[in-house]
Amino acid sequence: MELLRNVVIFLHIIGFAVTFGGWVTQLVAREFRFTRVMDYGLLLSLLTGLALAAPWPAGIELNYPKIGIKLVILLVLGGILGMGSARQKRTGEPVPRALFWSAGALSLLAAGLAVIW
Ligand code: HEM
Repeated sequence: MELLRNVVIFLHIIGFAVTFGGWVTQLVAREFRFTRVMDYGLLLSLLTGLALAAPWPAGIELNYPKIGIKLVILLVLGGILGMGSARQKRTGEPVPRALFWSAGALSLLAAGLAVIW
């Protein structure tokens, strides 16, 4: 069971890598667009995060305030990606810079919280 939990944590971290990696790619390319890759990474983080939020194997202690805050961050980030994607589809333009930077900052913030708190 512990091995399975570690595999799920690994997938959870891959979710972050995919979201943040997609974002960095857009930053470095100076395109400032949201891509499906970011959505897929976030979905993976959400599904694996919810699975990890259950206390298994028995006896494990979880930091629920931290998990709750990460869930809120993830939902806000999902909203930002959704809004930005809809807008860029409608206008054909990159997303507004404020939205673009917020997405990267929130993704990093969630990962920072996870590791440092
Ligand atoms: C963008 C969103 C998120 C990012 C970047 C993120 C990042 C991480 C990282 C890097 C870890 C591994 C480090 C550690 O074990 O402390 C982790 C663990 C974990 N995350 Fe997330 N996370 C996110 C969202 C969520 C959500 C939405 C949930 C639950 C609803 C969640 C629940 C957990 C749990 C339960 C652990 C394992 C803690 C443990 O077993 O010690 N995460 N997260």
